[in-house]
Amino acid sequence: MNHPCYICGLGSSVPSRVLTNADLEKMVETSDEWITARTGIKERHILDENANGSDLGAEAARAALAEAGLAPEDVTHIFAATCTPDHLSPSTSCIIAGKLGISASSGQMGRVMCMDFNAACTGFVYGLELARATLCLHPEAVILLVSAEALSRRTNFGDRSTCVLFGDAAGAVVLRSSCEKPLWNVADVSCASDGALRDLIQIGGGTASPIEVGSTVGPEWFVTMQGMAVFKHAVRNMAEESQKLLERNGMGFEDVDLFIPHQANLRIIKAVGERLGLGEDKVFANVQNYGNTSAATLPVALADARKAGRLAPGMKVLLTSFGSGMTWGSALLV
Ligand code: UT7
Repeated sequence: MNHPCYICGLGSSVPSRVLTNADLEKMVETSDEWITARTGIKERHILDENANGSDLGAEAARAALAEAGLAPEDVTHIFAATCTPDHLSPSTSCIIAGKLGISASSGQMGRVMCMDFNAACTGFVYGLELARATLCLHPEAVILLVSAEALSRRTNFGDRSTCVLFGDAAGAVVLRSSCEKPLWNVADVSCASDGALRDLIQIGGGTASPIEVGSTVGPEWFVTMQGMAVFKHAVRNMAEESQKLLERNGMGFEDVDLFIPHQANLRIIKAVGERLGLGEDKVFANVQNYGNTSAATLPVALADARKAGRLAPGMKVLLTSFGSGMTWGSALLV
């Protein structure tokens, strides 16, 4: 049996430290003109050395819980979408649980399921599907879906083709099958991938990159990308998946109040919007302020769109994303 999957609270968090295009001009051979024309990005937010993605995730989670009127001890599941976890182990979700004060001493031991998953930039969409499935098994669940990314930790600041693109951020939602004041119901989600395209975007530093104590790491530890190939897949897959999702829900693009695509490049955002016949007033973009924050882009964009007055509870929102894997997917919020 399907249960509703309500978003009951939404929060976001970005580091205060800002890296502008002018700053990057001093680091690599690039220019504000090139970055703005090719990507739309003006600035990105970068973690300080003493903070990690889990700190952003915990802050976004606290804001989402506060809006939902819940305390950390009410949470039954934490799903963390990240391709830049603090560690290979323990999981970022367990670290966030610890930072929220959910521990054996708070009486939660054995009650909270914590799990990381990596669908790269599509993490938030995949996470909404995980939440829907979990609520079918456990309708009483209180799920924290946290997208927490620290891309700056895997950005090669000597590579101009990638270092201008990424930033750090986190976003979180509380999902439940019943809720007094829901923001939206996650009506439907569609997820896809193609592992044949796994080489198009990579972040190293896993066990396939052997390292010995005391040795230094090479460029393979950082983001590498075949930009133009990714661009083409992104536009095609986000458009097709969104179309499919609306069709199977008996809707057309004219029924959508706001379209929020993955925030990687303003040209990609505009190209998808045009392909779907959506006017600029219906397409949300905030990539200018953050760069690409991978799984965090969609919940941060939801929070920003609401702050900007472009989104209110119950409006019909179409989310779509793509990323390393390649993965892609769309979600319909009503
Ligand atoms: O979440 C998924 C993440 N990935 C993406 O969404 C990326 C999708 N792809 C893109 O956004 C674009 O392909 C990029 C922004 C990465 C690159 O834009 P492009 O229009 O595809 O440029 P290009 O890679 O074809 O490079 C054009 C030129 C090259 O010079 P030559 O070979 O024509 O002389 C590059 O060396 O621009 C040069 N270039 C730069 N110049 C100044 C590349 N990066 C820079 C830079 N500043 N930062």
